[in-house]
Amino acid sequence: MTAFVSRACLLALTAVPVLAQNPARPALDYTFFKERVQPILLEKRPGHARCVACHEHGSPPLQPLAAGAANWSEEQSRKNFAIWKMFVVPGEPLKSPLLLHPLAREAGGDRFHAGGKHWKSQSDPEWQTLAAWVRGRTMAFGGAVRVLQTNAAGDNVHVIDPATNRVVAAIEDIEVPHGVAIAPDGARIYITDEALRTLDVVDARTLKVFQRIPLSGRPNNLDVARDGSKVYVGIRQAPGAVDVIHTKSLTNVKSVPVKGEIHNVYVTPDGKYAVAGSIASSTISVIDTSTDTLAWTLTLDAGIRPMAFTRNRDGSTKDIIVQLSNFHGFAVVDFAARKEVRRITLPDVPGREKETQGLQGSPSHGLAITPDGKMLWATSKYYDSVAAYSLPDYQLLKVIPVGLHPEWLTIPPDGSKLYVAIAGDDAAAVVDIRKMELVKKIPVGAVPKRNTSGMLLTASSN
Ligand code: HEC
Repeated sequence: MTAFVSRACLLALTAVPVLAQNPARPALDYTFFKERVQPILLEKRPGHARCVACHEHGSPPLQPLAAGAANWSEEQSRKNFAIWKMFVVPGEPLKSPLLLHPLAREAGGDRFHAGGKHWKSQSDPEWQTLAAWVRGRTMAFGGAVRVLQTNAAGDNVHVIDPATNRVVAAIEDIEVPHGVAIAPDGARIYITDEALRTLDVVDARTLKVFQRIPLSGRPNNLDVARDGSKVYVGIRQAPGAVDVIHTKSLTNVKSVPVKGEIHNVYVTPDGKYAVAGSIASSTISVIDTSTDTLAWTLTLDAGIRPMAFTRNRDGSTKDIIVQLSNFHGFAVVDFAARKEVRRITLPDVPGREKETQGLQGSPSHGLAITPDGKMLWATSKYYDSVAAYSLPDYQLLKVIPVGLHPEWLTIPPDGSKLYVAIAGDDAAAVVDIRKMELVKKIPVGAVPKRNTSGMLLTASSN
């Protein structure tokens, strides 16, 4: 790294006192560097080696990427910033070696860069981004509600804007994505990757996977602790476990032994428990999240499928609503009494033929409760529909046909719309909850199943 002391180093050192005296010089924004400049240093341009491929070893130095990591850690980003800001002159893109060295000579760049000329002109968007940073551009963060739709037979996850009901982006490179969850601060998306047996961590602002964390076996569904500190992943491989991933260190710290291979795991609304269900053992395993140890179990007479939770006035868990293998409906488990108290069968639809193909032992596989806690929705694969029930009395309100093989359900925070993954139609159906009608079907990827919704952090530069 000290092999060659460049002119930019000298320039920066001599320039410092001047900068301190000159208030007209803009400050260089660290966040803009991290979010907008660093991706350029990582980007593969056709016919060119990546900046990082050389500068990991040379001057100006970039921090070496950790094995398997697609991006730098926070600490490494800060080190990169401290060094690379010395290769620009704040406010003056055309005096900044970072912008001139890889820029074509004809476009005003330096005569030679051993790493080649990456930009043909100053109007190249990447060059413009670097210029914006040098001129003191900062980042403004906003939040936007998004619906995330996984594609169970695909290699991507679609991002839907519920304001327009259009697909606005896709998260790529996750073959057989299973479950998806959003961190409470909206900065990350966690997705279980069945093909690689990893928990894939996605940066909400770039929608790129930046870490894949090895799991103890093939995963199914997952959930995030209410404070965002941990992710619980259901392991669908014998003997079954719930892996606990610490989100600060992004490490798999513990595999909690439970009863049977785990299909779904949910953190209760009060955050106190992680509730895991096993199809093979027909057992619900309740983990205490303060110790991450098994608190109690309950075995029913059929495999445990999706679950949903109702709350008491104090926020604690009242009932677990649970779908069961080969049952067209759901059971209600009293959480405090730890026993099943009710079973409700979804209605048959007169004159409609029952769908029986490819049910995967699960004629009803999707539940959602409105944010006000007053309505429960459940899917029916038998009748290509969703059924609405009032809570807490479980009275049937309406059955709405939505499409072939409806699966998972999600209701964004404003409670106005229900999104249904329509596995057989490669679409997400939108139901207006007030009007109780199907309003749109949005084409997504191959065999959409799990979904979620919530506030995601998006980045825009001001
Ligand atoms: C093939 C390896 C290689 C690649 C790829 C590469 N560089 Fe370089 N870079 C070098 C070497 C070697 C030097 C030192 C010799 C020189 O100045 O040409 C250098 C020097 C620099 C300097 C120092 C300029 C100065 O005034 O001292 C900057 C800034 C720089 N590179 C930026 C970049 C950026 C930005 C990219 C990607 C767009 C990039 N480099 C890609 C090898 C590379």
